[in-house]
Amino acid sequence: MADVAVQPDGRSGGIVIEDDWPGYSLDLFSYPAHYSGDLDCVFIPHGVIMDRTERLARNIMDDLGDHDIVVLCVLKGGYQFCADLVDRIKALSRNSNRSIPMRVHFIRLKSYLNDRSTEDLHILGAEDLSFLAGKNVLIVEAIVGTGKTMKTLLKHVEAFRPKMIKVAGLLVKRVPHNWACLPDYVGFEIPNRFVVGYALDYNEYFRDLNHICVISESGKIKYKI
Ligand code: HPA
Ligand code: MG
Repeated sequence: MADVAVQPDGRSGGIVIEDDWPGYSLDLFSYPAHYSGDLDCVFIPHGVIMDRTERLARNIMDDLGDHDIVVLCVLKGGYQFCADLVDRIKALSRNSNRSIPMRVHFIRLKSYLNDRSTEDLHILGAEDLSFLAGKNVLIVEAIVGTGKTMKTLLKHVEAFRPKMIKVAGLLVKRVPHNWACLPDYVGFEIPNRFVVGYALDYNEYFRDLNHICVISESGKIKYKI
C-alpha cells in the first residue's frame, strides 16, 4: 500500500460495477439448491472472477517478478481468492522466464456479525510475524470496505519491518473516504452492498457458493444470529 492505487478520478483501478447494476437473474446460472430463496441475484459470476484474477496475477508478476514474496492470506474470506491468485501466479512462473518464489502464510481476522462490522477486530495467527522482517509481503484480502480493517492490519504488519508491502483485494466497496486506503491490486470496485459467495460469508454461510451474489432479505433473516 506504499503507493496507493487510486486513479486520478478517485477510482480504485478495478473493474467498476455501478450502483445501479441489477446483477444477473439466478435462473441464468447454476448454484446450490440449498440456497434457493436466499439470494437476490448473481452479482459477479465465477468465470468473471477467475478471468480478472488471471489478469491481476499478471500485473503482480510484472511488478514483482523475480522477487521472493510472502503471501499473507487473510482468512476466512480470502481463502478462495488467495488460492486462485497463487495458482495463476504459479502458472505464469512455470510458463515464462520470470518467476516469483512464494511462501504462503495465513492470518485470520474477524469483525462481522450478521451484515454489520463490529468494533472489535480480532487478528489471529499473527502473534509472531517476525519472519516478515526484510521480506516482500503481498497481503491478499477478499474485500475492503471502510478500509479500517486494512489500516489496522497494515499497521500490525509494518511493525515487523518488511521490505515492502503490497495489497491485493478482490473487491473494494465504494464507501465514502476509503480511497485513502486502497489495495495496490483491485479486482472489482462494487457498490456498498452486502455480498456473499466465493468464500465470503454471512454468519459462516454461503462460502460454498462459486459466484459472488447479493443475499436476499429472507436469506438474511434465515441465517441471522
Ligand atoms: N460480505 C461478506 N463479508 C464482508 C462484506 C460483505 O459484503 N463486507 C465485509 N465483510
Ligand atoms: Mg465474514
